[in-house]
Amino acid sequence: MQGPLNYDLHIVDSVKSTNTVLKEAAKSGAPEGTVLVALAQTNGRGRLNRVFFSPKDTGLYLSILLRPTVPLSPSALTCMSAAALAETIEGFQISCAIKWVNDLFVQGKKVAGILTEGVIRSDGLYAYAVIGIGINLFPPENGFPETIKASAGSVFSCPYDEALRKSFLKKLLQRIKFYYEALPKPTFGETYRVKQMLFGSEVLFATEAGMRRGVASGIDDAFRLLVTCSDGTQHALNRGEVTIL
Ligand code: BTN
Repeated sequence: MQGPLNYDLHIVDSVKSTNTVLKEAAKSGAPEGTVLVALAQTNGRGRLNRVFFSPKDTGLYLSILLRPTVPLSPSALTCMSAAALAETIEGFQISCAIKWVNDLFVQGKKVAGILTEGVIRSDGLYAYAVIGIGINLFPPENGFPETIKASAGSVFSCPYDEALRKSFLKKLLQRIKFYYEALPKPTFGETYRVKQMLFGSEVLFATEAGMRRGVASGIDDAFRLLVTCSDGTQHALNRGEVTIL
């Protein structure tokens, strides 16, 4: 088993990207459990080099430094965090869904994303992993930017509430600790699958031979999305993105 995870929490007003800063700290030897929380980011990043909208008094932007000592599949830490996040949101009586691999949705809108970055050693274990989690907790004062207006939402519909933000952070970190300490056993797997919104949906995905359509039918033990095409072929997707048709 992975062993105990003890947090060392650092909170800053603003930073370019909590992932970028924590990765630098990881390279300089910062210990497992270091957590960097920012109240705003000037260069918040998402997957596929996208910008993650990170204004003040709206969200929770944090990165957690881990140094797992057990072998893990590439998506395991992202899926573990997504399950922990889904349970945290539902702990506030708000129902949510996970969109493989790293997105959280409430009422059909994306409210959170996860960006895991790290360095894998030659023995296949992580030298370090940084899990970055960005959550739109409250509606932004001036609304979401035009580019994401149609797709983005917030977990809560009330105005910014400092006590609520703190309580959300505490619960999320507890849930991540619970799942992390049980690794490599994927105790988060059931939640991850039960909360999955893609099953049964027709999706478009990229293969080396071009774009294909198929029906998302499951998630395997390595947290790859299984997609079945009309010609009967099954594809296990490792990463990238799928579009719901
Ligand atoms: C995504 O939606 O593709 C992932 C978004 C991840 C955003 C978080 S916010 C905290 C951490 N710092 C970053 O720059 N990105 C992650």
